[in-house]
Amino acid sequence: MSSSPCARLASAVLLSASFAAAQTIPVDLVGTWSSKANSTLTGPGFYDPVNEKFTEPAHTGISYSFTADGHYEEAYYRAIANPSNPKCPKGIIQWQHGSFAFLANGSLTLDPIAVDGRQLYSDPCQYKNSVYTRYNTTELFERYTVYTDPYHNITRLDLYKFDGSPLMPLYLAYSPPQMLPTTTLNPLTTSTPGGAKATAKARRDLPMNHNVINKRSPGMQQADRWWWFGIFLTASGGVLYFFF
Ligand SMILES: *[C@@H]1O[C@H](CO)[C@@H](O)[C@H](O)[C@H]1NC(C)=O
Ligand SMILES: *[C@@H]1O[C@H](CO)[C@@H](O)[C@H](O)[C@H]1NC(C)=O
Ligand SMILES: *[C@@H]1O[C@H](CO)[C@@H](O)[C@H](O)[C@H]1NC(C)=O
Ligand SMILES: *[C@@H]1O[C@H](CO)[C@@H](O)[C@H](O)[C@H]1NC(C)=O
Repeated sequence: MSSSPCARLASAVLLSASFAAAQTIPVDLVGTWSSKANSTLTGPGFYDPVNEKFTEPAHTGISYSFTADGHYEEAYYRAIANPSNPKCPKGIIQWQHGSFAFLANGSLTLDPIAVDGRQLYSDPCQYKNSVYTRYNTTELFERYTVYTDPYHNITRLDLYKFDGSPLMPLYLAYSPPQMLPTTTLNPLTTSTPGGAKATAKARRDLPMNHNVINKRSPGMQQADRWWWFGIFLTASGGVLYFFF
């Protein structure tokens, strides 16, 4: 039993996790989960790491994917209300992936591959171009529950933030999960063979995210006021490009 592939993977996760209390991965978490609109989904349809490009989903929303061997990916597409000028909503797109651990006390920790995360911030009335940066934020979920949503009759995941407040409900969209490769996609030191000149330049010039707008880590509660605005972005076209 202990030599089965799953058991070996699980113990590898256990050893590599920096938390002594890490447990094996619960199978009920495995899959791609998406918020109600079901149009923001992890995977290549959201973020293209080769061309450094996001595809704007039809609706705002968030998505998390978890694998049985301890990898995760997340996609966020949020609109930020602008009460002083409702015609100027700001938009934020974030993507991260990395490894996660399920702790003995029921919490989940998500530890991103720091160089891979990306954020696109757009404030069309303020800046002509969107601001494209790295994005690197560890996350702690105090607990989670998976159950069949009695109203929609779909498998549902409730994630509770580090302070115990619930994230918006997520519903199972794919199982097995739909994700980009779980390895480092954009190492800092190696050049990408075949990458377009413009892409290589963009990658070289990519600023570090010293002042990203949003944080989901403990101690960054203030950022919560950015959440939960249901306005659709008024950005035109399906794809947002980046300029320097
Ligand atoms: C990513 O975030 C972690 C934790 O906040 C920090 O220790 C690390 O230096 C960051 N890495 C990069 C490349 O920004
Ligand atoms: C579980 O343990 C982690 C790491 O020590 C801690 O950050 C988290 O708050 C704990 N969760 C609960 C529910 O106590
Ligand atoms: C819920 O969905 C399952 C299949 O996913 C189906 O077998 C079942 O009949 C559904 N239940 C209700 C109450 O619609
Ligand atoms: C969400 O969208 C995916 C992809 O289009 C589809 O396969 C899945 O059934 C949808 N899930 C729900 C709950 O609507």
